[in-house]
Amino acid sequence: MKMPPKMKCSTLHLMLESLNKPIEFQTEVFKKNGDICYKQPLGLLTNMYFLSHPLYAKVMLEDSKKNYWYRHPPYEKMPGSDLFGDENLFTTTDYKSWQHDRKVITNSFDSGVHFLDYSKTIVHLTQKLLDTWENGYKSGDFFPFREELDSLLLDIMINTFYSKVTLGNLSDASKTCRRTFPSVYKTATHTSFFSLKKRQLENDRAYIHNLIGKCIQERLDHPEEYDDVLSHLLHEYSALPKEEKIARIKSHFITFFAAVMVTTSSWIEWTLVELSRNPEMEQKIYEELEKTVGNRTPTYQDIPSFVYLSYFLKEVLRTHPPIHLTIRHALNEDEINGYRIKKDAQMYLLVSNIHRHPEFWKNPDTFDPLRFKDHPFGQETPSAYVPFGTGERTCIGRDFAFLEMHLIIPMILQKFRLRPPPGSKITSQLSLALGNRPSINHMILEHLY
Ligand code: HEM
Repeated sequence: MKMPPKMKCSTLHLMLESLNKPIEFQTEVFKKNGDICYKQPLGLLTNMYFLSHPLYAKVMLEDSKKNYWYRHPPYEKMPGSDLFGDENLFTTTDYKSWQHDRKVITNSFDSGVHFLDYSKTIVHLTQKLLDTWENGYKSGDFFPFREELDSLLLDIMINTFYSKVTLGNLSDASKTCRRTFPSVYKTATHTSFFSLKKRQLENDRAYIHNLIGKCIQERLDHPEEYDDVLSHLLHEYSALPKEEKIARIKSHFITFFAAVMVTTSSWIEWTLVELSRNPEMEQKIYEELEKTVGNRTPTYQDIPSFVYLSYFLKEVLRTHPPIHLTIRHALNEDEINGYRIKKDAQMYLLVSNIHRHPEFWKNPDTFDPLRFKDHPFGQETPSAYVPFGTGERTCIGRDFAFLEMHLIIPMILQKFRLRPPPGSKITSQLSLALGNRPSINHMILEHLY
């Protein structure tokens, strides 16, 4: 069996560009190396494989899933392991415990049972935030949209998954999460020499652990029956000693915090950026809204009528996938399309390249929501559209994130427009190891009326 071509790129270039311009770097890798390549960075025994072809994604995540089940096997050696713990869906290396926890947590995302309630919380909290925009900002004001929306997403998560818990200053919490999750990775790699950053990270870690510990303790002190993720987990772990129970639930919750701060927040930011870049599409969504809900607040029942909005949101995920790398570990030697995959290789699926592969996508560089009109995956091959992954480790929060976006975006568009500052050039920016956000931090807010 032959090895794939060697990656044409130095290790330094790989480290710097993949951190600084993650999406642009993927395009460069595809242009120079094609569908598959590998690299053995100097001094490392591990081989890194980079896959850009939709059918290779299918082999890795579906057909040969047993060989690529592990996401991060040497987790204890990974940056941030002490922040996340190793007993959660992302990082556990124990298949049985993953299966068990996944089943418990998935129950809390059952749309038939929970989404009507969740939608009321989402609408209520979004309305509260929009009222502060209405009173706090004038048309034309520079506006810290990242901070405002991150706080909202955190607030929604807390009040749906761990309902009825008040955490105090959410803006502080979201600022800490936003600072901590990206720096976990950066501090452990190229900035690890700066002890100031390390100290900050340790303080942030303690802050987040305290915050989540407070959620759990509050529920333990008031053990009335709730129907949310926290009560499901407390019930499942009831046989464990208290300390262990808290540690395990904390580990799950921290990954949820990270999931939301990295993914939905990226999706909402890129959506607002793409709306501002495509005013005629924004107008079409607005007209759809006027026709269906008019001036009243949207509800869960309205969501199926937001048809063009749903195409638009899917196209944002195609062009700016919040998780731009899907990472796996090859447990055994394998073969993908005739190429040898060595045992213990690190596998990197370049999601942005898969979403633009020219054999599968027409005009891949054009932003065109209507490609989702006739195909749920935007074209005919499901594994060419994998913003939430595919196979047994696919995202558990997908439907919840769709629910949030189909309520928050209409509510913003009913009252406001957001515009980038004149002359700003927006590129992708790394958030956590795998997240992709627009480089812009402030937008200009305009009131509609
Ligand atoms: C725009 C929103 C989101 C995107 C694009 C997204 C994307 C992803 C992706 C690509 C994966 C990895 C799949 C793989 O490795 O094969 C994943 C896994 C996961 N996501 Fe999401 N996610 C989103 C929202 C959420 C939310 C709101 C939650 C809720 C807490 C969540 C929780 C998780 C968890 C726990 C996993 C690990 C599942 C497992 O390994 O069994 N995600 N997500």
